[in-house]
Amino acid sequence: MNCDRIAPYYKLLESLTFGNCLERTRTHFLPHLQTKQRILLLGDGDGRFLAQFLLLNPTATIDSYDLSAGMIHQAKSRTTSPRVHFHHQDITTAVLPHQAYDAIVANFFFDCFDTSQLTTLILSLKQSAQPACLWLISDFAIPATQPLKLMATLLTRFLYLCFALTTGLKQRQLPKYHQALQKSGLSLTHREDFLSAILTTRLYRHTLEL
Ligand SMILES: C[S@@+](CC[C@H](N)C(=O)[O-])C[C@H]1O[C@@H](n2cnc3c(N)ncnc32)[C@H](O)[C@@H]1O
Repeated sequence: MNCDRIAPYYKLLESLTFGNCLERTRTHFLPHLQTKQRILLLGDGDGRFLAQFLLLNPTATIDSYDLSAGMIHQAKSRTTSPRVHFHHQDITTAVLPHQAYDAIVANFFFDCFDTSQLTTLILSLKQSAQPACLWLISDFAIPATQPLKLMATLLTRFLYLCFALTTGLKQRQLPKYHQALQKSGLSLTHREDFLSAILTTRLYRHTLEL
């Protein structure tokens, strides 16, 4: 996947298609990150979430990983904070510090993987998370009942086709990210849905082992 071509227009394309729905979804649980101190941002794209986070939290340091130089360029245009470390790197092969992060954020990022790849990635990221780490995950979702299920299926297929044509994304359908997170030992603590549950944002914590 290479988002360089769409990076300069990413915000505009999003506004034209979804208005402010994606931004509301991304930032809904942002206040839960106010006191976090070391944040891992996964595929943050053009840095709008990062800019909001920096306004809210005056002390945290952030490692932001993205495959796309174009997206990182956009993100750098939104912040010059020395608290942010940008990594132009594939997160699946990145060497991360052990038990370092107290928050991990993935907004519209898990949809770039299939369920099996995602489970492997989450298990590996878990090694870099503190035991009390908070995971903030936002993404598209397929509601359980018709006609929304059909609408969401058609919408996500269309979006995957657009991303395939513009970025070369290979993935064609949403992974079962809730299943991948649960299987990796994470428990859902908060959930908020938008756009009739076609968009969802969730907080997860490490499941306590008794
Ligand atoms: C659909 S965009 C989402 C961007 C942003 N998080 C948002 O909320 O809109 C996915 C982002 O993840 C990045 N990405 C995809 N696969 C990646 C990987 N393996 N490692 C790091 N970044 C990746 C892409 O370059 C892109 O910026």
